[in-house]
Amino acid sequence: MNNLRPVGVIGTGKYVPEKILTNSDLEKMVDTNDEWIVSRTGIKERHIAAPDQATSDLAYEAAIKALESAGMTGSDLDLIIVATITPDSAFPSTACILQDKLGAKGAAAFDLSAACSGFVYGLATATSFIKSGLYNNALVIGADCLSRITDYTDRNTCVLFGDGAGAVIVGEVPEGRGFKSFDLGAEGAGGSLLQLEGGGSRLPASAETIENKKHYIYMNGREVFKFAVRVMGTATLEVLNKAGLDRSDVDLFVPHQANIRIIQSAMQRLDLPEEKVVVNVDKYANTSAASIPLALVEAAEEGRMKAGDTVLMVGFGGGLTWGASVLVW
Ligand SMILES: CC(C)(COP(=O)(O)OP(=O)(O)OC[C@H]1O[C@@H](n2cnc3c(N)ncnc32)[C@H](O)[C@@H]1OP(=O)(O)O)[C@@H](O)C(=O)NCCC(=O)NCCS
Repeated sequence: MNNLRPVGVIGTGKYVPEKILTNSDLEKMVDTNDEWIVSRTGIKERHIAAPDQATSDLAYEAAIKALESAGMTGSDLDLIIVATITPDSAFPSTACILQDKLGAKGAAAFDLSAACSGFVYGLATATSFIKSGLYNNALVIGADCLSRITDYTDRNTCVLFGDGAGAVIVGEVPEGRGFKSFDLGAEGAGGSLLQLEGGGSRLPASAETIENKKHYIYMNGREVFKFAVRVMGTATLEVLNKAGLDRSDVDLFVPHQANIRIIQSAMQRLDLPEEKVVVNVDKYANTSAASIPLALVEAAEEGRMKAGDTVLMVGFGGGLTWGASVLVW
């Protein structure tokens, strides 16, 4: 991959909806409490989309900021990838809706479904297209409105999720910088551990699917937790190995923000000190595909990376899937 033109991040933007749902708000909705949520997950609050906001609206706000920071407009884009599991509708894709709103006439646009790993899958896809010479400037967005598929009577899941969007512009960068390696993978056999069954071609929407709550996220928390801890470790070591780097070379670790205990287990395995790890799960909870870009963009806005720093992103999610990347900022 490294003998082709260097490709990296040339613009960043993020957006979270205004409304905040705190743990104490949730205490009034289900049998839970702040102490349980904070000690088991690290989450204190999450942002929730307004009734008139869909995933493309969150993605649009993040995209505008990313374009601005790259000094571009929509017409400079030739590829748009939206990683999401909560598209505005089955089709047209959320990426096509965005292409129109951004005035990115003629740009290729598609959605990518890899749940919480989707953003890293999107980065790998865009990087490959650009390195091949097919495209030059790609908008890659992770955006999700998990509140729309969360059952707010189920305490096992409703405390865990939030809404948001993070966007980057991917394009050519100076020699020595950019993406150094990717490690993407899946374990389809574990798909039923984390899923939304209803509304597809297997179980089309019906009065029965609604009654049986098939349009909400189902999760086997304990099994997903074990999978997450395992692949966060293995994918991180693998992606470093592919880049010819060592744990000690990592300047900033940007993990998927699902649960502070999963992040801490990865920190221990990699022997990473707190100051090298981005954590914002307390403010946003798990925003699925938006989680890694929200963390990456927030770290950039806070000046936590300087040119030449080695940034390691890693995520896991439904599928089951995982994705990791080494990026020289
Ligand atoms: C969901 C998760 C936080 C639960 O934490 P845990 O320590 O494993 O908790 P357990 O599953 O052992 O449940 C312990 C008890 O707490 C209860 N509980 C679950 N949610 C609760 C809540 N919000 N408030 C209070 N109690 C709750 C359970 O009902 C269970 O009670 P029981 O033992 O009487 O059945 C944890 O499993 C997890 O984070 N899993 C991974 C989730 C994830 O990352 N998903 C997204 C992947 S992209």
